[in-house]
Amino acid sequence: MNFEVLTLFPDMIRQAAGTSVIGRAVKNGRIAVDPINIRDYSCSRHMRVDDYPYGGGAGMVMEPEPVFRAVTEAKRRVGEDTRVVYLTPQAEVLTQTKVEELAGEPSLILLCGHYEGIDERVLEETVTDYVSIGDYVLTGGELGALVLIDAVSRFVPGVLGNDESADFESLQDNLLEYPHYTRPEIWHGRAVPEVLLSGDHGKVEDWRHGQSLIRTKARRPDLLRKSRRIRTIWFGDPETEAAAAALTGKLTRCGTVENYNRKTLQKRRNSMSDRDLLILVEGRSGADDPDAAARFRNLSGNGTPFFLFLGGGADDRCTADCLQSKGFCFQGAVQMDLYPPSEEAVRSAALSIRKKLERGEL
Ligand code: ADE
Repeated sequence: MNFEVLTLFPDMIRQAAGTSVIGRAVKNGRIAVDPINIRDYSCSRHMRVDDYPYGGGAGMVMEPEPVFRAVTEAKRRVGEDTRVVYLTPQAEVLTQTKVEELAGEPSLILLCGHYEGIDERVLEETVTDYVSIGDYVLTGGELGALVLIDAVSRFVPGVLGNDESADFESLQDNLLEYPHYTRPEIWHGRAVPEVLLSGDHGKVEDWRHGQSLIRTKARRPDLLRKSRRIRTIWFGDPETEAAAAALTGKLTRCGTVENYNRKTLQKRRNSMSDRDLLILVEGRSGADDPDAAARFRNLSGNGTPFFLFLGGGADDRCTADCLQSKGFCFQGAVQMDLYPPSEEAVRSAALSIRKKLERGEL
């Protein structure tokens, strides 16, 4: 992945991109970080790139033409259609979902402003995305660009070692990470929680999930309000299960995946609340399948949102209507090839659901 960074301080980018994990990724050719000095594209003899603001006021404004020329050069290097991200405090704050979305691009052009900002007209003409790294004002966009490069690069294959995979991050669940411990077992009189020494994988997972909830409630209650328990139900031929599990795995670390071909499950009462999110994966149906009403007779929602994923040309209307009549709120249906689904299809489906969760739209 290529990052073209348009800046007045190329050394700042060069230095930071030469060390640690990002430095290693650059050396290995997994990513390229190319600073482009906007001053090299100045229109004046004295290499000026800023001027006084029309209408008066404090500070200087970066002129449009040098920025435009620098963007044009960056596009010549990495492609005309490359997204141009302007780092500015006047934007939505960067989230893990946005990071993953940007990581799907082959290249990014990152534009760093200075002084009071950049002439609005060149922003209107070139910028595709506005990104802030937090609700505070920095002296320029370079630190923002470096934060973005670091977070996005973690998703580029080969940047992290196998042990540090960015496949699923706690924040994608709208939950903070649980606490971590290593040796010694007792340090300064503080013992490692006993459950972690039990060797019982299920108990450890439950404890970690509980700790994530406690921590998020205490430190980031705003995240918890966006968090939902993912409940996946699948039916149709057995290969559908892999697609259901892949989708669930991209949405949460602690969701459930249930096989609604099974009569025992169909018979069991299954009530969901408005804090749940139902993902229904419908594969190719066998000839002897009961209809939706029979299959879901014991399933009920309470304003529970649901998404439908359909493979093999399955028809969504019957299932969607049936669930709507049982207290579920239809959010959308996606036809996809489930046998097996491509990693890209699963990623993009999960991303669109997470965006909705993040915006509080569900
Ligand atoms: N430039 C100045 N402040 C910034 C911020 N908070 N995020 C991104 N770029 C910036």
